[in-house]
This record gives sequence, C-alpha cells and structure tokens, in this order.
Amino acid sequence: MSEPLLEVRDLKKHFPVGSLLLGKVRGWVKAVDGISFTINAGETLGLVGESGCGKTTTSKLILAAEEPTAGVIEFEGRNIVDLTDKDLMDYRRKVQVVFQDPYSSLSPRMRIGEIIGEPIQTHERVSQGEVRTRVGELLELVGLRPDMARLFPHEFSGGQRQRLAIARALSTNARLIVLDEPVSALDVSIRAHIIGLLEEIQARLGVSYLFIAHDLAAIAHISQQIAVMYLGKLVEVAESLELCANPLHPYTKALFAASLPSHPDEEKKEIVLSGEVPSALNPPSGCRFHPRCPFVMPRCSEREPDLIEVSPGHRVSCYLYESSR
Ligand SMILES: Nc1ncnc2c1ncn2[C@@H]1O[C@H](COP(=O)(O)OP(=O)(O)O)[C@@H](O)[C@H]1O
Ligand code: SF4
Ligand SMILES: [Mg+2]
Repeated sequence: MSEPLLEVRDLKKHFPVGSLLLGKVRGWVKAVDGISFTINAGETLGLVGESGCGKTTTSKLILAAEEPTAGVIEFEGRNIVDLTDKDLMDYRRKVQVVFQDPYSSLSPRMRIGEIIGEPIQTHERVSQGEVRTRVGELLELVGLRPDMARLFPHEFSGGQRQRLAIARALSTNARLIVLDEPVSALDVSIRAHIIGLLEEIQARLGVSYLFIAHDLAAIAHISQQIAVMYLGKLVEVAESLELCANPLHPYTKALFAASLPSHPDEEKKEIVLSGEVPSALNPPSGCRFHPRCPFVMPRCSEREPDLIEVSPGHRVSCYLYESSR
C-alpha cells in the first residue's frame, strides 16, 4: 500500500459576487463545494470534468495560491493553512505546477538556463556551476539537450516548451506536481509523448501527480485513481481500471461517450452531454447534474445524493445506486 502524500477533506472555495469590502455581496460562486480525495506517494490522481467545474480552483487551493473557504489540505500529515514562513516556502518547493499554456508560464525574455535555474537558486544555496550542471541534467531528463540552456522559449515547439515546464517543476525536487491540462493545447500526436515522459519521470523519481483534464480518455492510462468533478462536487471516485470497466454516474458515462470513439456494433445507447455546464453561481437544486441527466427522477431535484461507497474504493453520488449501499 502506498502512503498518502496529500489529503483533501471537505474542501470549499466560494468566490463573492459583488464587493466583500463594501458589504455588497450579491451571491457566491461555489467553484469548489466540499470535495475530498487522497493522492498517494508516487501515484497519479486524475481529476476530470468539463470546463467550469472547478478543476483549476482546486489546483490553486493545493498550490496555496488561493485560501480555502473551508476544509483541510494535509500534506505529509500537516494542514497547509497552518504552515508559517519557512515551512510554507518548503511546501511551495515540494509542490509545483505545469499549466496548459507553456507560453504563459515561461518568461519570454529569459534564457532556458535561467528559467530552470531560478527555482534552484531561490530554494537552495548552490554555486553557479552547480546550477548549470543541474539544469543540464534536468534538460536531459525531459528529453532535451543540455546546450539548449542558452536558448529562449520562442526557439522551442509547443511540445518542447511543455518539456521545459516539466523540467522547471522538477528543479526543486518536487514531491507533487499539479498538471493543469498539460496536454490540452498540444497536437494529438505530441500528447502521447508528453504523457509517456511524465510516466517515465514518475517511475524514476517517485513523484506524485494531480493530473487535470477535461478528456477522460487522456487521463485513464496515467492515473491510478480518477475523480470526476461536476459543478464544484465530486460525483464519482474510483481506481482508474475500475472506473473504465464500470463507470456508474451518468455524467462519467457521458464523459466516456464524449471522449472515446464509439463502437459501430455497440448496442448500448450512449449518453450524450447536451447543453452547457450550468453556472456555479446558482447551481441546480438537488443533484447538480439533474437538468442534463437522462435518468432524472422526481427526488433528484429535491435533495443532493450523498457520495456513497458502492464497492471497495468506488464512490458515487447518484440515486440510481442508493440501494447498493
Ligand atoms: N477568482 C474568481 N472569482 C470568481 N469566480 C471564479 C474565480 N475563479 C474561478 N471562478 C469561477 O469558478 C468556476 C470554476 O472555475 P475553474 O476552477 O476555472 O474551472 P475549470 O478549471 O474546471 O474550468 C467557474 O464558474 C469560474 O467562473
Ligand atoms: S441523482 Fe438523479 S439526476 Fe443525478 S445523476 Fe443520478 S439519476 Fe441523474
Ligand atoms: Mg481550468
């Protein structure tokens, strides 16, 4: 059994609409509304959901870039809101991020050597020569050449820039890397290379990933566990193999249908996602998925179904499975 590295419990982030300072709050955007999950050391948790479901807000909370409205984020057994200066700096060293857009995350006027070397110098006392050596090693680790340290970001392709972002994230010996849609902006042909690289790095260094995507197929292979998010809530959580073999929540099934090419001889009718994700400002009553769910029943709009464990490690929040409790 792997050890838990990061545990999130009943985490919430509500953004005020209107002015909090002037006391004129007109409502709250419940971007993250009570989610719990665990990321084990050396493993990957895939977090999947359509745009606007609260994935990036979740990642900002974990990166300590936003303060939670409620809930606990425990890293190596300590709640991160309790961390003071030195410990918080150490946390920021151990938890790094790779964003979707490698353009925006790499300063255009800095050479690669500085971009990757900067975090090393911020967190450690090392000589210039040592920084150069480490940068060279990191570039090799992500499949680039050490002499590329002299170049600027615009001299690289999109896929290469994402490799640079990964090297930067690894420069401080991170234990957890938050990957927020890291391959969504890349050509399909490049995506598999980057995911393969991430897997190789994990096998070598034992680093954990929170891998965020809107496409379920993209994360199924790399993740040990998958959490499906809808409008600030987790609607289904299971081991990846179990979730792929036995998706339960109608939203999970719809995400699968949207991301995998359908079989011509498939008898089952697929669930097609229609309409947009409703606003997190005024989420639907009861089960938040009910306005889009083909199985909706009268009680679905009345009270929110609990996230219940239907088999070991497989949790789902839907009235269709309440009897299996
Ligand atoms: N700083 C903010 N202020 C107000 N609303 C926000 C803020 N950041 C995100 N939101 C809202 O929270 C919801 C979730 O956004 P986000 O976490 O970016 O979702 P995702 O990454 O899944 O697309 C959206 O409705 C978004 O508009
Ligand atoms: S609780 Fe009801 S509306 Fe929600 S997913 Fe299940 S069947 Fe559909
Ligand atoms: Mg996002």
